[in-house]
Amino acid sequence: MIYFVSSNKNKFREVKRILDRYNIDIEFKELSLIEIQGEIEEIAKHKIKDAYKIIKDEVIVEDDALFIDELNGFPGVYSSYVYKTIGNDGILKLMKDAKNRDARFVSVIAYSNGYTKLFKGIVEGFIAENKQGVSWGYDPIFIPKGYTTTYAMIEKDKISHRSMALKEFVRWYKS
Ligand code: IMP
Repeated sequence: MIYFVSSNKNKFREVKRILDRYNIDIEFKELSLIEIQGEIEEIAKHKIKDAYKIIKDEVIVEDDALFIDELNGFPGVYSSYVYKTIGNDGILKLMKDAKNRDARFVSVIAYSNGYTKLFKGIVEGFIAENKQGVSWGYDPIFIPKGYTTTYAMIEKDKISHRSMALKEFVRWYKS
């Protein structure tokens, strides 16, 4: 049994759905861990250390960030705060006249059993002109490359940043 420490149940639902396919058991531990400032990998490393201290068993944490080229990478590591404050409507407003709508969603999965390892998944894409679909977080405004609609409108597990990072984790975990 591995524990998934997060304050975000939506993330856990997806993580569980993905890991179920590989017969890896995961349980939700709802906890809010301190998020330091820094690069996404540094944030994840700090969180997994704290999570392991509490759980003292196999544990996973995940950190995500949405980087928008036109906004020089904003919201990036501030994605969570920006979502809570200006939200998708605020991002769309900032992007109103943007010609370059390129963006990428990055997931860093950190695993620890005392020994820590990080796995990264990156999905290139675009910021939609308008919100599409009903889902959580930035799903209604992020269109992955090769698609015409947002994460909210597709089977995102097949291609999501989270899936990519977890696939790397599974490959390592099972070997
Ligand atoms: P966090 O700092 O890792 O919790 O995530 C950064 C922000 O990105 C939060 O507001 C999340 O809700 C959002 N987020 C992370 N992954 C996804 C996703 O797959 N879809 C939509 N929003 C996401």
